Amino acid sequence: MKDLDPKRDNLFANPLGAVPGFVFDQAVVDVFPDMISRSVPGYETIVAHTGELAARFVQPSTNCYDLGCSLGASTLAISQNIEGRDATIVAVDNASAMLEKCQIILDANSATTETQLVNGDICDIDITNASLVVMNFTLQFVPLEKRPALLEKIYQGLNPGGCLIISEKLSFEPESLNTLLSDLHHGFKRAQGYSDLEISQKRDSIENVLVPETLDTHIQRLRACGFQSASPWFQCFNFCSLVAIKY
Ligand SMILES: C[S@@+](CC[C@H](N)C(=O)[O-])C[C@H]1O[C@@H](n2cnc3c(N)ncnc32)[C@H](O)[C@@H]1O
Repeated sequence: MKDLDPKRDNLFANPLGAVPGFVFDQAVVDVFPDMISRSVPGYETIVAHTGELAARFVQPSTNCYDLGCSLGASTLAISQNIEGRDATIVAVDNASAMLEKCQIILDANSATTETQLVNGDICDIDITNASLVVMNFTLQFVPLEKRPALLEKIYQGLNPGGCLIISEKLSFEPESLNTLLSDLHHGFKRAQGYSDLEISQKRDSIENVLVPETLDTHIQRLRACGFQSASPWFQCFNFCSLVAIKY
């Protein structure tokens, strides 16, 4: 993705006193590519392979959904891998500031696949005639009680042979394992240049906003929706990407 105006994330570098809850506002939009690549181990790998999975699964004259598209990194990876298939990408986000910049980035990258940007809640939109649905680090922000119905709607909207990609931060049981994988993640962030203050203030800000679940919970919910095959294809520390196929 061509980043037009790269800025370093220092949103949590100074003491904030009472740390506010995390929101996807203009300040986050301005530093988002730097924030996500220095915070999520494997982010670039997951985005690149989202494109590769798109190349395998997207069928002519179908829809691809990028739910929680942010600045369109996954949208672009899909777009570049399905040129000439007469497919449409529907990229959805409910943060206006994200979508405004996403449109500028898509224009600058000359994405050729037809792409509709939708400002809306992914729990409210229709999903139809889909050969690919992507939720890269978005489901974790959806209220827990809305997740089963969202996954059910995606299953119903996918055509047979269609693919769902879900990338998430995970929680683990027992707590000692959760602590180990969180510590490894924080070590990754330190190696990326974040200070202990930044790491702890970001953790406080995102707690209760990003609610992770266990891998087991994800797999069981996917099976309950009807996905007969669902498996992680990538994991680094407490970050994972799953693929689920509808037969
Ligand atoms: C971590 S970012 C996703 C990153 C992006 N998928 C990528 O690959 O770069 C999460 C995004 O989901 C959006 N989001 C969270 N909850 C949402 C909802 N209920 N409906 C629509 N968008 C949502 C946020 O505004 C944010 O842009």
